[in-house]
Amino acid sequence: MNKLNIMIRQLTLIGILTITFLSCTSVSKVKNNSTTITEVIGVKPELVREPYLQKVREESAIITWKTNGIVTNCYVSYSENGTEDKTIVKGYLTAHEGFMFNEVSILGLKPNTTYNYSIYSNGHVLATGKDYYFKTAPSNKNQAFSFYALGDIGAKEKSSFAKEPANRITELAIKPDFGLGLGDIVYPKGESKNYDNHLFKPFKEVFKNIPFYPVAGNHDWLSINHDENFKKEWNLPNKEYYYSFTYANTLFIGLDSRDGNFYDYEHQTIWLEKTLKENKDTYDWIVVYLHHNGKSCTYKNDYEHVKGLYDVFAKNSVDLVLNGHAHTYERLKPYDAFGNVDASETNQTNYKNLENRFISVTIGAGGKINKKWKPDANNSENCDDGTIVAHSEHVPSFGLITIEKKTLTFKGINSYTGETFDEFVINK
Ligand SMILES: [Fe+2]
Repeated sequence: MNKLNIMIRQLTLIGILTITFLSCTSVSKVKNNSTTITEVIGVKPELVREPYLQKVREESAIITWKTNGIVTNCYVSYSENGTEDKTIVKGYLTAHEGFMFNEVSILGLKPNTTYNYSIYSNGHVLATGKDYYFKTAPSNKNQAFSFYALGDIGAKEKSSFAKEPANRITELAIKPDFGLGLGDIVYPKGESKNYDNHLFKPFKEVFKNIPFYPVAGNHDWLSINHDENFKKEWNLPNKEYYYSFTYANTLFIGLDSRDGNFYDYEHQTIWLEKTLKENKDTYDWIVVYLHHNGKSCTYKNDYEHVKGLYDVFAKNSVDLVLNGHAHTYERLKPYDAFGNVDASETNQTNYKNLENRFISVTIGAGGKINKKWKPDANNSENCDDGTIVAHSEHVPSFGLITIEKKTLTFKGINSYTGETFDEFVINK
């Protein structure tokens, strides 16, 4: 590379950093300022990725969209549903692999309120209309809510059926409040260049209204920039590898099981125990989600590091553990800190008082299914203990969970037909 090229590269980098810095420092709110809304600052950029919601809390929300690189300014205009009182919030820009993440962090929102939003880059509106809205989290812990969960979504376009669960989720009579991604977000290696075609395009109608909280799986760790890609694509709590958030009366904990041996296992498990101990008496329900399974009768092996956490889950009031990895659906019976199933429990659809026990579900047929394998809970060579399976169903599927006060209802839903093929309730 000659000196001129090096100079051009350095100047380009300085330019990008300056734009990012300037945009980051210019966050402001302007009420009723329609002249700012229509002010066009530069060339209209291409909207490469529709807006997606992250960390929508009681009083805040993050809206992100991706454009091509010729952007110097971004902002969101939003209004409470049913009003015309618009507020503008400027955002910040981050360059990644030739594209620009436009991201706006909105503060000062009302809990449990629906807002409409429009997105702007260089002063040009890139998305607006009745389809663009979000709802903030409730401050009332007794409010009922629901969320969807599925793993292994982002397969290559030709082999992927990811659009099916996305369509069923958008058709639900009651829109879920958020979604959990159970790892292997994008195949084959979690590359940023595949995020749009493999994940964001099939899920764009879901992500524009419903915030998504993914954890990384083994495939997401395979690219050269593995964790860097994951952290650029998402804006998650904590340092994004493992994190917690709360919604109404429930604590959610996302873990990074990496290749099955966990990212930074020692620190992550110390953090997990601390988070559980600090919160278990404050929340009615605790849901843990990660990519790898512990015990399993699928074609995947048992993962010892996950099984090693059973005593942590059981002793700290965890109710539900959700994972992906095996491209199928498998719900296990409640088991204790040692993985023992209570044989006296005859009703596997309506549980009362699961104290010191939890239910583990594999929901890993989000975008692809293992066509070479047939489930056989009693006879699989991978199943050491055939009595642990409550329900298995080898179909494209996702989980839909509703929590209302002391009742948790779980549904396994067929991604093509929308039919519920498995359902159980836990009461406290
Ligand atoms: Fe996996």
